[in-house]
Amino acid sequence: MATALHGVEAVFLMWPLPTAAPALSVLDVVREHARRIVFLSSGAVRDDLDEQAEPIGRLHAEVERAIERSGMEWTFLRPHGFARNTVSWAPQIRAGDVVRGAYGAAAMTLLHEVDVASVAARALIDNGHAGRRHVLTGPQILTQVEQVRNPR
Ligand SMILES: NC(=O)c1ccc[n+]([C@@H]2O[C@H](COP(=O)([O-])OP(=O)(O)OC[C@H]3O[C@@H](n4cnc5c(N)ncnc54)[C@H](OP(=O)(O)O)[C@@H]3O)[C@@H](O)[C@H]2O)c1
Repeated sequence: MATALHGVEAVFLMWPLPTAAPALSVLDVVREHARRIVFLSSGAVRDDLDEQAEPIGRLHAEVERAIERSGMEWTFLRPHGFARNTVSWAPQIRAGDVVRGAYGAAAMTLLHEVDVASVAARALIDNGHAGRRHVLTGPQILTQVEQVRNPR
């Protein structure tokens, strides 16, 4: 990583691992080189709780805390669910006209990954995002059943 970070001023960090602990050593290397970090966190993180209530919020909150302690200039992106997640239904849709899954009434504002990337690029390049936690949502609240019925 140290070689890859040579001359890099700003880093976009995604953390797809199940535990936050390895992020500490990653951040140790990153902060030797970069002064700015934009972290793809999660809308599951709740600032109103001392301890996060569920695992996704807990994982991302732990990485956020480690970044805050790193001394770098940080921006957290907290997206809600990605539209791309619905692609997991594709095999069922190809095979028939029934989609089986959990929590059909669960409602969310899906957003397109390109929109997440656009925000990330601005946060990396522009000034004025330091210390900000940007919650990213899509344009419309849809239950999972509504997403299946109206994929557009
Ligand atoms: N999906 C959502 O709705 C959602 C919502 C809020 C926040 N997020 C955040 O966005 C992140 C990405 O979400 P996603 O749905 O795109 O996840 P994903 O589909 O699981 O993609 C994870 C990506 O990370 C790569 N990866 C996994 N382990 C790696 C490793 N050890 N070293 C290098 N690359 C590794 C994978 O590479 P391969 O393809 O080669 O396996 C894959 O490209 C999540 O981790 C989460 O922090 C997601």
